[in-house]
Amino acid sequence: MANETITVINNATGERHELPLREGTLGPKAVDISSLYKEAGIFTYDPGFMSTASCNSAITYIDGEEGVLLYRGYPIEQLATKSSFLEVSYLLIYGDLPGDKALVGFEKMIMRHTMLNENLKDFLDGFHYDAHPMSMLVGVVGSLSAFYHDSLSVNDPRHREISAHRLIAKLPTIAAAAYKHSVGEPIMYPRNDLRYCANFLHMMFATPCEDYKPTLIGEKAMNLLFILHADHEQNASTSTVRLAGSSGANPFACIAAGIASLWGPAHGGANEAVLDMLLEIGSVENVQRYIEKAKDKDDPFRLMGFGHRVYKNYDPRAKIIREVCHQLLDELPEAANNPLFELAMKLEEIALNDAYFVERKLYPNVDFYSGIIYQALGFPRNMFTVMFAVARTVGWVAHWLEMMSDPNNRIGRPRQIYCGPAQRDYLPISKR
Ligand code: CMC
Repeated sequence: MANETITVINNATGERHELPLREGTLGPKAVDISSLYKEAGIFTYDPGFMSTASCNSAITYIDGEEGVLLYRGYPIEQLATKSSFLEVSYLLIYGDLPGDKALVGFEKMIMRHTMLNENLKDFLDGFHYDAHPMSMLVGVVGSLSAFYHDSLSVNDPRHREISAHRLIAKLPTIAAAAYKHSVGEPIMYPRNDLRYCANFLHMMFATPCEDYKPTLIGEKAMNLLFILHADHEQNASTSTVRLAGSSGANPFACIAAGIASLWGPAHGGANEAVLDMLLEIGSVENVQRYIEKAKDKDDPFRLMGFGHRVYKNYDPRAKIIREVCHQLLDELPEAANNPLFELAMKLEEIALNDAYFVERKLYPNVDFYSGIIYQALGFPRNMFTVMFAVARTVGWVAHWLEMMSDPNNRIGRPRQIYCGPAQRDYLPISKR
């Protein structure tokens, strides 16, 4: 880029400020406003970060208009059909696809870290039986920093790598343990001879009295969902992880912060909310009424699983998932004739042809179908967002590692437009 700049002119004073334009490999240019306050004494204002790039990143690229998603340059469609979750994890973290040896080494490394410190079981036992598994996940992941002191030096690259491996390895164990706690079954230890997703299914559904043999289709579906959920650049939870980490906080605390942010229904909580919504709608005859509710500005109801801040086209992940949903429901006898799937299809069809949704470019997002697949695999509704968190941990970790190795990393500290009272004097209580 040949030193392109943008001139900001204050029309009241005539002052002019030259601001440099920055350009990445793909995507729109960005005005570098970092010197604006120092030079002009003004802030920029962008609530919800509608037009703000918060960092440089080489991990994931999204073109929301075209519906494109690339991990380290590779199209999501190729990774979804050809890769495995751990291979994608390696790609996101280290930047390139691994060779044979590197992949086997990485898989072994991750599977060697799957066990939890035994004392963490007491921690889990402290939760009430009906605690939401996401609340347990936030608490237990944060508490890892109290157990793994030997990898907490955030300025040591090797410590950072060990913590990253631990997080990717232990999240499924914690997630499955949270589920077991909620159904009153003993926690199942991980089996390191199994593949990552098969081991997760084993920890979820085996008991000490009965083994569980994951079906290949189940393992494949979970592997695919995990790949699709692995990263999505600077979304709310990833930005939360980065902001928490920018202060030098340890990685376990940062990922716990990310999990908390993911939980909301506008973000990762949407997959659980979609199923709640489908159950509330109940049958195809009611679909139109709920579409009208979603369009009514006086009604807080929104079509869950619809719309996206970045995609103004069909979410490419939803396209892939929709296909798998069909296959899975055909192949899993227990999921055949799932009335919720039929309902979801009808809802999608009506919404995609409704002027309100068409004008606003509101398409189904990844979470419109993911809950239906998890349900078909036997996961209870309150585990859907937990599954998202397990998969997204690799993205959070990749962003945290990228940020921590960036020599220009500084604490994240947004400013504000203060709208409170101007300075005033304290009055004694008798005079108020
Ligand atoms: N149902 C009905 N109307 C909607 C919806 C929806 N799901 N989403 C957006 N709109 C309307 C909104 O009312 C607004 O209309 P108007 O311009 O007349 O005021 C317009 O579309 C733009 O919406 P917005 O709220 O300004 O858009 P946003 O970028 O701030 O929000 C969103 C994006 C994903 C939070 C929102 O679309 C939404 O709440 N969707 C439902 C929740 C959901 O499915 N979330 C999962 C996102 S994908 C997975 C993830 O990233 O975690």
